[in-house]
Amino acid sequence: MVDLTSWDHAGSRLDLAWSDGRNDTLHAIWLRDNSPSPQARHANGQKLFDITELAEDVAIDAVSNGGGALHIRFAPDGHEAAFDLGWLRDHAAGHPKSSQRLWDASLSDAMPVHHHDAVMSDDAAKAAWLRDIRDLGFVLMKGVPTEQGTLISVAESFGYVRETNYGRYFEVRADPDPINLANTPMGLSCHTDNPYRNPVPGLQLLHCLVSENDGGESIVVDGFRAAALLREESPDDFAVLTRHKVPFRFASADTDLVARARMITLDDRGEVEEVRFNNRSIAAFDLPADIMPEFYRAYRAFARVLQRSDLEVGFKAGPGDLFIVDNQRVLHGRKAVGGSGRRHLQGCYADKDSLMSTLRVLERTA
Ligand code: FE2
Repeated sequence: MVDLTSWDHAGSRLDLAWSDGRNDTLHAIWLRDNSPSPQARHANGQKLFDITELAEDVAIDAVSNGGGALHIRFAPDGHEAAFDLGWLRDHAAGHPKSSQRLWDASLSDAMPVHHHDAVMSDDAAKAAWLRDIRDLGFVLMKGVPTEQGTLISVAESFGYVRETNYGRYFEVRADPDPINLANTPMGLSCHTDNPYRNPVPGLQLLHCLVSENDGGESIVVDGFRAAALLREESPDDFAVLTRHKVPFRFASADTDLVARARMITLDDRGEVEEVRFNNRSIAAFDLPADIMPEFYRAYRAFARVLQRSDLEVGFKAGPGDLFIVDNQRVLHGRKAVGGSGRRHLQGCYADKDSLMSTLRVLERTA
């Protein structure tokens, strides 16, 4: 247990020192804005005032420590609030560090495998499954009943299905008149799904019902690992892909979806937060002529990294296997399907925010 060892305030600033040596500086406006007092927050936790109602010259008038809380009186309004020390400790450090783990082909030796019946019946098993999706962006679930549409109940065990023009869920099997190359026996290079949508689906579930064919092995690649390699080996190409948006498109008789997006998107700290890559649905680049050559150089460089065999995890999904990918991070593809045997998968999309919500609630009660 980390204790607060000292505190010091002057004007609008509060300095905290913790027993593990960490020091934090907090500002009066931030503390006043986050007051947990019943005058400031409804019992449901929602804020009862607007930022414009706080004095511009808000300052800390007095501080005392007792009962596991820091008691603060603010000036000029005299507002008083007791901040739980655990809350201060958690929130003073800024944005929490990501728990993401980047991976390459070596993940094949330690596949993140979870079992359907355990996940569906045990909250600890479900939390472990959701943590793997959060941290690795890829998990394999075994033992999923091979009835049609079962993937919907798997998606609904943590969140909500994202319905699209392909329906609530869609069939992946060879089709005599395919609107999408997924419904042919052709191999598919690694891609993220539906880059032509805004927002893009955060998760894809693929459930294998029948696998009597030759070939058709699934491949997954950690797009964040590939982006990190590009950044290291070819920083100019990395920068070009993070700077320019390009159009992606899907068109059929009744659908025409277009989205302009970056192939690599950075967050406010410069970390990669999204990869969009799909050779089949990239549209004609609409970049200025002087950018086009460098963009193509960068696009090709990233594609080459994504195709490296030492990044690929390959596996043959059998009946009852269901895998989930974080569609803003992990690319998936397949080898060509051969032989005369049947192959049938069903896929659906879901949003990541509901998955994260379910995991937080499970961890809250753990
Ligand atoms: Fe796909």
